[in-house]
Formats: sequence, structure tokens, C-alpha cells
Amino acid sequence: MIKVLMVCLGNICRSPLAEGILQSKVDKNKVRVESAGTGGWHIGELPDPRSIEVADRHHLDITNQRCRKFKQSDFDEYDIIYVMDISNLRDVRMMAGSEEDMKKVHLILDTNYLNGNTDVPDPYYEGKDGFEKVFQMLESACDKIADKFN
Ligand code: 4NP
Repeated sequence: MIKVLMVCLGNICRSPLAEGILQSKVDKNKVRVESAGTGGWHIGELPDPRSIEVADRHHLDITNQRCRKFKQSDFDEYDIIYVMDISNLRDVRMMAGSEEDMKKVHLILDTNYLNGNTDVPDPYYEGKDGFEKVFQMLESACDKIADKFN
């Protein structure tokens, strides 16, 4: 079993989408996908309604998810940690306890370097369009990631 963790800041907008999208593209018996946030403001909450809505428009149900905070033991629990932006990368790497931990952390868009962007932009203060754009970016990245596992 390969264990993948998707990480963003709040764990209510981007990483829940990344979790749902990648999960839909891989064999559940081979790959487990979960998500967490570096910030703890929304622990225990459902994903943001706008993420639930954009997922639903794309026939994905992410309402089984509940927000949790990234913790140091996640480095032991997961094989690969995908972060959404440069600031997540810095925050997660600051908690790494070893070189091995550091190597587990990747920017999710590094997989396909979309139009030169390395960050999945935080859509929290944006409207619907921002969430659709994030969905498209993650869909494209997760296609590439799933190819590696399937
Ligand atoms: P996310 O977006 O990192 O994509 O989940 C955010 C959600 C909430 C907050 C920040 C970012 N917040 O500050 O509450």
C-alpha cells in the first residue's frame, strides 16, 4: 500500500479536492490518499462548501472528509507528501526530522509544471471561478501522479 498525503494551509479548500481527485483515479487497494492542513483553524470541519460544490459538479463526493492538522508523525505514516504551494512546502519541511522526511515532500504541480506555475493558488478569498481553476490544475496534476501508480 502506497500512502499519499495532500497538504494545504487550511485543509478545507485545495487539499480536500486533491485527495478526492487522486483517490478517484487510483486503485484503492494499492494507494491510500488522505489530506491535512498546516493550520489548525478548521479542525473537524467539512471541506469548504465551494470545494464540495466544485467536486460535485465533477461527480466527486468529498463530504466524507474532515479537516485535520498536519503533524510530525505524518512523515512516518506517509510515503509521499504533496503540498499545494511554496509556503506549504516551507512549513512542512520545517517539521521534517530527517533527510528522508525532506525527500517525501513535493510541490504537487512539479509533476507537470503547469504553464510555469508551481503554486496551486489559495482560492479561499476568491469566488467560484477560483475553485474551478484549482480543480482543473489538480485534475491535471493528479492524472500525471496516477499514471505513476497505475
Ligand atoms: P486551503 O485554503 O489552504 O486551500 O484550505 C484556506 C482555507 C482557510 C484558510 C486559509 C486557507 N484560513 O485562513 O482559514
